[in-house]
Amino acid sequence: MSEHGKIEITEMQYDKDRPKASNPLMIEDLSLRDGHQSLFATRGRTEDMIPMAEKMDEIGFWAVEMWGGATFDTMHRFLNEDPFERIRTLKRYFKKTPFAMLLRGQNLVGYRNYADDVAKAFVNRASENGMDIFRTFDALNDYRNFEAVVPVIKECGKHFQGTICYSLTEARMGGDVYNIDYYIKKAKELEDMGADSICVKDMAGLMAPYDTYELIKALKETVSPLIHLHSHFTSGMASMTHLKAVEAGVDIIDTCLSPYAYRTSHPAIEPLVMTLLGTNRDTGFDIKALTDINEIFEKTILPKYKHLLDDTKVSIIDTNVLIHQTPGGMLSNLVNQLREMDALDRIDEVYKELPRVRKELGQVPLVTPTSQIVGTQTVNNVLFDKGNDRYKMVTAQVKDLCYGLYGKTSTPIDPKIQKQVLKGYERGEKPITCRPAETLEPELKKAKEKIGDLAVDLDDLLVYALFPVTGTKYLRRKYGKEDVPAEMKPITLEDIEKEAELVKRAKCGELIEKSCQGFSPEKSENLRTFNVFVDGEYIEVGVDEVGGAPVLAYAQVQTASPVAQPQGVTIPPPPVAPAIARPAAPAPASAFAPAPAKAEAKPAPAASGSGTDLKSPMPGIIIRYEKNVGDEVNEGDIVVVIEAMKMENALPAPAKGIIKAVNFSIGDPVAKDAVLAVIE
Ligand code: CO
Repeated sequence: MSEHGKIEITEMQYDKDRPKASNPLMIEDLSLRDGHQSLFATRGRTEDMIPMAEKMDEIGFWAVEMWGGATFDTMHRFLNEDPFERIRTLKRYFKKTPFAMLLRGQNLVGYRNYADDVAKAFVNRASENGMDIFRTFDALNDYRNFEAVVPVIKECGKHFQGTICYSLTEARMGGDVYNIDYYIKKAKELEDMGADSICVKDMAGLMAPYDTYELIKALKETVSPLIHLHSHFTSGMASMTHLKAVEAGVDIIDTCLSPYAYRTSHPAIEPLVMTLLGTNRDTGFDIKALTDINEIFEKTILPKYKHLLDDTKVSIIDTNVLIHQTPGGMLSNLVNQLREMDALDRIDEVYKELPRVRKELGQVPLVTPTSQIVGTQTVNNVLFDKGNDRYKMVTAQVKDLCYGLYGKTSTPIDPKIQKQVLKGYERGEKPITCRPAETLEPELKKAKEKIGDLAVDLDDLLVYALFPVTGTKYLRRKYGKEDVPAEMKPITLEDIEKEAELVKRAKCGELIEKSCQGFSPEKSENLRTFNVFVDGEYIEVGVDEVGGAPVLAYAQVQTASPVAQPQGVTIPPPPVAPAIARPAAPAPASAFAPAPAKAEAKPAPAASGSGTDLKSPMPGIIIRYEKNVGDEVNEGDIVVVIEAMKMENALPAPAKGIIKAVNFSIGDPVAKDAVLAVIE
């Protein structure tokens, strides 16, 4: 065991004799960012963070992560919150504990490389608003993508935490790419850039405990910044990984308070506090104080979020991650993608093709967005390639990757595939080797011209520059030019209690009397449905006159709360009466419980009869038509670009001829096999 990690244990009781640790383990709490991002789709509201903020500030965390990652996007898009305001508000309650954020390098808190002027202004404003620690990462571990932001972090006098994305190509650390030398080399690069600390970011939960021990020990021996571990629980290894990291001498570990812990989030802090109690690495945290905070979360906050928890599985771990060394989110995306294309039976082919595609595309770490880029291309290859004729349908993002727009890949991209993919690419067929953002023109001035006075200050302008479409909508709401939709408004604990009461009543039969008694005749074709309104709620009832007295066949209960719930309370027909099971009735048009209208994919227009149809190979959304009616095309010319699973796919003309019909407009959702254009 290394010098750093030697664990000394003393005999003691929790309340008394607790010695002060000689080298206490430092803890960053992630509940207010990664915790709710991992478990509750990042939907945590600022007002729901305030009730426990002062208590959290007393615990002694090294830092509290509460911003960055997906929070900026979700806040302005779904919660009608000013992202910058959250930092200022929470800062009033956290007087001692530094704030940390996740910064996606040149992607900031968005999904593409922004120009340097945007990147610099963003870091500056985050800092001015109260951010202290910038955990900076790049999906390719290409630290040229840090060059714009790091000097600004330093100028602002803030903490630059350099990050290494942890990745594997086989079951354990090692092999040609992601071996110990790779991580040491990356850590040295970060140290040379002036990193105040170095974070190993295991976003997929792939770090095995003994590999972690070797890695942390090696890092502690070779670089001087603090070493920080971020390991998701997804595969179930992270608690063990934490302990081995402590033994290897790690300085800081990321955890969540228990209500925000486990599943795809992080191990909880409370067991770690007890594990290290009385040792030389004792956190010194008061476990009773942590329990008090959890109580507030459990009782007053989490009932509002529980419905967002993915409870489709009983198991809280994803063993597929262990088998495929691939993020759980990426695996479920692959399954969804195949399901949408009616090809779920080909999942094994996808698993087989995945390592091959990843290798050909330069063994990139699998983290957003690279996991999606590799995953979607793999699905495309399995579905559309014919024998050795590979990469038949290439997404725009794979072209960008091959061009070098994301940065340098871990190994060189297969030159044959790179050449094939870049044929006819709009930026050029020769890949760039410079820092990607050097190819970008400044963006802020143009953004200001476009948004005009709707952006009152630089923070507003940044919201717009980062997210032009949803940012504009947010600013219009912020300045009263547009109403706030009901589903964006917060729900109260009272709403939740009312709903729970209805469910309870329905379950114990108050609303479904006859059916619950185990008797229900078969419904006849005369069955009619009625909506019965009882102050503030309605019950949908089915009434059947055949066989005498009306029999209540089923009931659907919904609250009349003006707040639309992402999952309305629907009482399924009781299991004792299979005969009454029927497809759920469409939600009645009611002023109550407004169901958010979901765009339906339009049916494919009828085939033209003459000419060749260009059909959509997958469900998606029309991004743009490259050709219009009357244009001449050769076979293989790009006619239309559709977006599927966040990736753009350019669809070529299946034949030479003239475009006779273009059947959709930009933004239209299309079904698989929809006729997008007709060529004659
Ligand atoms: Co994370």
